[in-house]
Amino acid sequence: MCGIIGYCGKKHLTDVLLTGLKRLEYRGYDSAGICLGNSNSLTIYKKEGKIRDLTAIVPREATGSWGMGHTRWATHGGVTDVNAHPHTDCSGKIAICHNGIIENYSRLKEKLGSEGHSFHTETDSEVIAHLIESMYSGDLEKAVKDSVPLLQGTFGLLVMHADHPCEIIGARNGSPLVLGIGENEMFLASDVSAMMSHTKQVVYCEDGEVVKLSALDYQVSDLRNRPIDKEVSRISWELEELEKGKFSHFMIKEIFEQVQSIPRAMNGRVDENQATARLGGLNMTERELLGIKRVVIIAAGTSFYAGQTAAWLLESLARIPAVTELASELRYRNPLVEEGTLYFAVSQSGETLDTLMAVRELQSKGARVLGICNVVGSTIARESDGGVYIHSGPEIAVASTKAFTSQLTALYLFILKMARMRHMAWLQGQTFIEGLLSVPRCLESILARAGELQALAKKYHQAESFLFLGRGINYPVALEGALKLKEIAYIHAEGCSAAEIKHGPIALINQNTPSMFLVPEDHLRSKLISNMKEIKARGGPVIALCMEGDRETAEIADDVFYVPKISEEFSPFVMVVPLQLFAYYCALELERNVDQPRNLAKSVTVE
Ligand code: AGP
Ligand code: GLU
Repeated sequence: MCGIIGYCGKKHLTDVLLTGLKRLEYRGYDSAGICLGNSNSLTIYKKEGKIRDLTAIVPREATGSWGMGHTRWATHGGVTDVNAHPHTDCSGKIAICHNGIIENYSRLKEKLGSEGHSFHTETDSEVIAHLIESMYSGDLEKAVKDSVPLLQGTFGLLVMHADHPCEIIGARNGSPLVLGIGENEMFLASDVSAMMSHTKQVVYCEDGEVVKLSALDYQVSDLRNRPIDKEVSRISWELEELEKGKFSHFMIKEIFEQVQSIPRAMNGRVDENQATARLGGLNMTERELLGIKRVVIIAAGTSFYAGQTAAWLLESLARIPAVTELASELRYRNPLVEEGTLYFAVSQSGETLDTLMAVRELQSKGARVLGICNVVGSTIARESDGGVYIHSGPEIAVASTKAFTSQLTALYLFILKMARMRHMAWLQGQTFIEGLLSVPRCLESILARAGELQALAKKYHQAESFLFLGRGINYPVALEGALKLKEIAYIHAEGCSAAEIKHGPIALINQNTPSMFLVPEDHLRSKLISNMKEIKARGGPVIALCMEGDRETAEIADDVFYVPKISEEFSPFVMVVPLQLFAYYCALELERNVDQPRNLAKSVTVE
């Protein structure tokens, strides 16, 4: 879930490890630790809490010639100093850092325990150190390779041995691991941000590969000792993108960035002459695209809502049946994969385990799965059969904002292409492109009035519970608005189709339960107005996001926020940004940890 970094090189070891861990903070964690290697001894410092708590216990002079660090997002065992990683074997000579879950740990623990190993933590991860110890006879890499096949579950793993100076062994299964190649220094980390200030040359590791790292060299091989020749890639992100700049939080920076990130997702992909989209990464010919009979979008969380919005529009404009399914559910329900169905896996991080496993399940049944990812070189991006990078730049805040609108943009381009190949005329295609190109301008005008949403947050942040209500293409946007408020302000919120409230949720309505209505000018507007009246009649406060000049809505609602007029298909863009801002300002009012909300992780690499 969280992060690991390993380093072999001449720089000040503790600095490299602690600043690397700091870069990984955004992934979400509850404790951290480092292991410093000094000729034939390992020294470990670990602490529950933040990196600053760890830094406070590491003596200034502490350093070493090779080492590793870990941020833990506890899955097995409480959040305590002892359970923090790294963990060691009985001799204290072997240390490991592990991201993920070892599902068969209790069986391994029992077996190793009966062989005389003694355990000191409640974690699943500790068994790895003892297992490697039981396999070790002088060759660390071999001991890791002999241990890995016995581990069930997911892992991004780093291993050090006191008697193997300047050597780190890395292995992965389901959790990310990236190798960084610097000048006379090498890195192994769970994501590139940990090493970006040192190098931009990286190698993405795959499941089943083992890396042996020293300061000057690296070797990648499989579990049967066959060397693997890996491609070296260059990170395209800039270091400044990992900084907050003039903003007080990453989340607000990323909300404002949408004016630039949406055009980036469109860059080079709009063919104005043919009024269509150019999406080379799909790796599909026009003829193959014409043969698509059904589209299924799989994802989790915010990416799922982007998928749901796009599925609605794909069916409406391209007349192709389209549905969205939670990756976590699809994976375990033995899905029916039919000829002519195209799958999309939507994932900002490209590492979400539920989505990755669903991709693998589908591919094993012969499905073609395309990825809509942000992180270049991420596992889903690499394993899918093609796809579109959204190029949002790094999204650091745990709450996803700019990735949502860029995912929409990429999917809208696909919809345009599919629609133009079917029923959409050239002129309609032109109008669609104009609409999409106008989105960033509309967002600019919303962002310029962010203060109005701050005022609404001041008024409503003490509410016990919220309803977010939308219809049609904005129904998933209502779900996304509720998710944002829940995750960063910790206010209970439910997203519903406004039509559904009479089937149950309206029972929640009272003076302390405001309803946020999304009211674009579409054919369902009059229905939404009736629903607003139903809420008002029961004493519930109503906030409405409606289009400029919509007096009727303004008269019913207690408060309105006007969004620029835009046609129905693009309304999700102008509706979601005020919801992101509203959640952000509520979280500020409540003094929440906006960028790293409690219990959450950015990249969910466990089930
Ligand atoms: C979004 O605000 C959430 N933190 C979360 O729901 C997220 O969208 C989900 O975990 C999926 O992540 P992904 O896009 O990286 O796959
Ligand atoms: N399952 C391990 C633990 O609870 C590792 C969790 C993680 O990925 O940080 O310690």
